[in-house]
Amino acid sequence: MSKCLICDKVIEPFMSFGKMPIANGFLTKEQFASEYFFELQVAFCERCKMVQLVEQPAREKMFNENYAFFSGTSMAMAIHFKEFADHVMTDYLPSDNPFVVEIGSNDGIMLQHFKEKNIRHLGVEPSANVAEVAIKKGINTISEFFDEKLAHEIVNEYGQADAFLGANVMCHVAYLHSVIEGIKILLKDNGIVMFEDPYMGDVIENTSYDQFYDEHVFLFSILSISYLFGQHGMEVIDVEPQWSHGGSMRYVIARKGARPASNNVLEHLKKEKAMGLDKQLVYDRFRRNCEDSRDSLTFLLREIKKEGKRVVGYAATSKSTTILNYCGIGPDLIDFISDTTPIKQGKFTPGAHIPVRPYEKFLVKYPDYALLFAYNHAKEIMAKEQKFMASGGKWIVYVPEVKVL
Ligand code: TYD
Repeated sequence: MSKCLICDKVIEPFMSFGKMPIANGFLTKEQFASEYFFELQVAFCERCKMVQLVEQPAREKMFNENYAFFSGTSMAMAIHFKEFADHVMTDYLPSDNPFVVEIGSNDGIMLQHFKEKNIRHLGVEPSANVAEVAIKKGINTISEFFDEKLAHEIVNEYGQADAFLGANVMCHVAYLHSVIEGIKILLKDNGIVMFEDPYMGDVIENTSYDQFYDEHVFLFSILSISYLFGQHGMEVIDVEPQWSHGGSMRYVIARKGARPASNNVLEHLKKEKAMGLDKQLVYDRFRRNCEDSRDSLTFLLREIKKEGKRVVGYAATSKSTTILNYCGIGPDLIDFISDTTPIKQGKFTPGAHIPVRPYEKFLVKYPDYALLFAYNHAKEIMAKEQKFMASGGKWIVYVPEVKVL
């Protein structure tokens, strides 16, 4: 029997993706035998509306000195985070000596813009290797997990903060209640919380089930975030849909009554109810859509293989781990996956054990098909890969549906 991580109600999984490894656990051949697996089961809580993993690997298994995700790998994301930082500075920070804290600040892709403007900032990044990159750039960063204890330490050293920021990190944290209590210690009375994460509404609409992997303990909606922060005397005062990570939602949150709430919040809540995000039924339909998507993708890859054509994966994303393992796609169907991240190159993908090669290997001999795992960067990638397409190369995508482009 499992209990909801937010409201303690008993929950039942609406689907299982089967045995899964750590999504960013790229490994060497020698490590195959000792690879860690857990069951990726997902549940919806009918009381607080939170969608969540039933079992979570220990956080140190995911966020450590070997963490393989560096935010600065995409131009579009660099621009996205500059806009995020500018928005905070223009619309929410006071002029008098503001202080900003970001958790999961990674290589400093967002905080660097505060640093450039000489704004007091602190990054809290538990993965030591990515934190190191930020520190080398002169971005004030500590390698810790954020909670109430750390909030007290930060306040003692810097005073209270005007803004608490996070991008693609809150959904990683199983102990959110402790983080929110930490936020309340850290923030000034009229301070704001602003974070964005992949959005459950987009996952349902696009059947982008690859958003479920070990790091994503939760897939948020406005419904579930309102319930969660409401339990701590805070409220959502604005929401801003984002294109990033295949569809994300940014939430602006303040202490109840401290700031006016935008009409946007009610409008989007209405949409969520119209979509049925508060009903079990929608998640059962989602499961069937996932099964159909899996069957179409494996059928397509097998047909292509039968024709003797070559398929290479494009970008060894965390998301691809769920696709490969759930669909049972291995080196028999995909030669290798090309990726620009040095720490992933020369290793094998988690669970499926497909070799990861440097991007140059893709360029040297174009495949007949490239399976686009980084579909969330499709615009940037397709603009970059004109020659591949001109050579007759085709893309395979699976979001929102399995298609050859
Ligand atoms: P992203 O979708 O941000 O990954 P995740 O699912 O892990 O959140 O994609 C980042 C990965 O994609 C990273 O391993 C680098 C790789 N990548 C390329 O190899 N080439 C590219 O052009 C882009 C944009 C990303």
